[in-house]
Amino acid sequence: MPMPLYGVVNSPCRSHCRAAATLLVSVSLLCSCFAIAMPSVVVTVDQSGKGDHRRIQDAIDAAPANDSSRTVIRIKPGVYRRKVVVDKPYVTLTGTSATSTVIAWNESWVSDESPTVSVLASDFVAKRLTFQNTFGDSAPAVAVRVAGDRAAFYGCRFVSFQDTLLDETGRHYYRGCYVQGATDFIFGNGRALFDKCHLHSTSPDGAGGAFTAQQRSSESEETGYSFVGCKLTGLGAGTSILGRPWGPYSRVVFALTYMSSTVRPQGWDDWGDPSNQRTAFYGQYQCYGDGSKTDGRVAWSHDLTQAEAAPFITKAWVDGQQWLR
Ligand SMILES: *[C@@H]1O[C@H](CO)[C@@H](O)[C@H](O)[C@H]1NC(C)=O
Ligand SMILES: *[C@@H]1O[C@H](CO)[C@@H](O)[C@H](O)[C@H]1NC(C)=O
Repeated sequence: MPMPLYGVVNSPCRSHCRAAATLLVSVSLLCSCFAIAMPSVVVTVDQSGKGDHRRIQDAIDAAPANDSSRTVIRIKPGVYRRKVVVDKPYVTLTGTSATSTVIAWNESWVSDESPTVSVLASDFVAKRLTFQNTFGDSAPAVAVRVAGDRAAFYGCRFVSFQDTLLDETGRHYYRGCYVQGATDFIFGNGRALFDKCHLHSTSPDGAGGAFTAQQRSSESEETGYSFVGCKLTGLGAGTSILGRPWGPYSRVVFALTYMSSTVRPQGWDDWGDPSNQRTAFYGQYQCYGDGSKTDGRVAWSHDLTQAEAAPFITKAWVDGQQWLR
């Protein structure tokens, strides 16, 4: 039985559930001990030259390629206008505060090399950083592409217009993050849990933006996006839908989430292909706010029961009990 992540999950914890919780706590304590035993190297990046490196990429390039010791890269406040590619596992990037530590680039999405930041290796962690693509509203422009397994983001901001966050492949966890864009701004075929995040749509009135475009392409893929305890806002009433299927088996769930009136009553659309209605899985569970009402939703979306929502609303959705601390 998955353990509730939040106090707000109103299911009374029965004794077998408590036993499971105790077990999980002991397992995670064990994991923390291993983690502490693992050496980690801390380096600083400072554009003024007072750190170990001036550029973030130089710090990544200097990290060991192939072992499981973690390299923690502390980034001093500033706007770092360079692309960053994380091609080694166990890299942590830490800013001072997300608003003061910004990684920015200006390039539309023309190739895999276009995003401001590309995470290609596993076990990546980012804290208190802003990832931005300043290209603007004339074409898709990716701020971060996450293509490594077991990536976690804490207190980060992702800012662009179209296609901001390419959550492409692997298991990912976002906590306390802010994601901004006008359409399809969280997209790709990852398996991700967004925990207490704020999604802000900048879709103009009438443009019909979509918060998500998840890409799951077959029933056998274990991918999908789950949003728990999040907040959805936008520029006006009815500017955006919750999602549309980039792949036919697209899967997205919103649980315990505030939706402002920016969310259209219909909630979802089939992206012009009615056959997607049979294969996509879109649901919501105990959401609130003017945009959350389910009576106007497309008939093929789901108002989930507690049992149906359960697999999506804990860290188990991304196997977090194995790798999140
Ligand atoms: C990394 O490890 C693999 C397998 O252990 C090895 O084949 C490869 O050469 C190593 N690469 C580097 C850069 O050390
Ligand atoms: C981004 O680049 C384009 C040209 O590729 C340019 O027209 C635009 O002004 C740039 N935007 C910013 C914010 O630098």
